Amino acid sequence: MAEPLLSVRELSVSFETEQGRLVAVDGVSFDVAQGSTVALVGESGCGKSATAHAIMRLLPTPPARIDGGRVLFRGRDLLALSEREMRRCRGAQISIIFQDPNTALNPVYAVGAQLVEALRIHRPLTRRAARREAEELLGRVGFAGAAERFGSFPHELSGGMRQRVLIAIALCCAPALVIADEPTTALDMLTAAQVGALLAELKRERSLSLLLISHDLAMVGQHADRIVVLYAGQVVEQGASADLLADPAHPYTRALLGAVPPDRVRQKRRVRGGLRLAAIGGALPDMHCPPPGCRFAPRCAQAFDRCGEQAPELYQLPRPDHAAVRCLLYEGSGQIAAAVAGAEGGR
Ligand SMILES: Nc1ncnc2c1ncn2[C@@H]1O[C@H](COP(=O)(O)OP(=O)(O)OP(=O)(O)O)[C@@H](O)[C@H]1O
Ligand SMILES: [Mg+2]
Repeated sequence: MAEPLLSVRELSVSFETEQGRLVAVDGVSFDVAQGSTVALVGESGCGKSATAHAIMRLLPTPPARIDGGRVLFRGRDLLALSEREMRRCRGAQISIIFQDPNTALNPVYAVGAQLVEALRIHRPLTRRAARREAEELLGRVGFAGAAERFGSFPHELSGGMRQRVLIAIALCCAPALVIADEPTTALDMLTAAQVGALLAELKRERSLSLLLISHDLAMVGQHADRIVVLYAGQVVEQGASADLLADPAHPYTRALLGAVPPDRVRQKRRVRGGLRLAAIGGALPDMHCPPPGCRFAPRCAQAFDRCGEQAPELYQLPRPDHAAVRCLLYEGSGQIAAAVAGAEGGR
């Protein structure tokens, strides 16, 4: 089996806050196989962006601290690289499309200039050659008359066009892996679908791998090969996308999906920005002091006595493709998954 492009192993991240240390990511492991799309899903605050930013080494330290784990990219641990080596890797090997297109672009520079700058940081291009490439890229991500829009400022563009500029910036140094942190959340449904389709096209065209963080189930269902579900900083379920959506195992995943098959949910909950994950009663636990047992137990309709005391392991599910679930309901059904379930996943 080919080595995965990215292997996150037992990654833990915490933040120093006024109330003490807050656990944001707690022993997260997953892989992104070459050429695959892996979706990271879960409620707000469950650690998706912290995971993404830790992979890119973009967390401000302090307040953030990497408490452990490895981020193997082509077998090299990014967490062990010098800042200089990491700078070379960022953009050129792995790039990120940030969660908020309104703050990710600099408001005082024209979008073309920002793209030229991004190109010239990594490649020895003349200004002229960079401009030509920037125009080509803007054209490719859907700017009609790219030369004319070159001088546009971010505020002159729609949300969808700003997101396209960010995609162009992320792609400008031909990375192998793109991390897209909720690339369509701020967009209306139609624009979100168009941006999703553009990402998928570019992925195919450029043999990219994609780590897709999203609340949009329609997008996840359409584009992801595997899904990793996070809850309170931990992986609670992962598996092949189609299996997981059709037959979610963890009570949390079921609650997120609204316990209705995805095609039916689609008709019921179409909202601005696409098909969103369901809202679940209750709240995430206080991650300054995570509860001792299952972190979802206080909100779980299927919780039984031991759930409040015994932290569940990640159990392997009897399904192909390394599906795993962190829930005592599956304690007897499978062996404990290795440090990473879904190790060689993806298609
Ligand atoms: N700079 C910070 N200082 C303190 N706590 C932080 C900081 N950044 C994130 N956190 C905390 O870390 C946890 C994980 O946050 P993260 O941003 O990763 O969530 P998320 O899953 O990306 O949520 P969303 O869907 O809202 O983007 C949350 O409890 C959050 O409050
Ligand atoms: Mg986030």
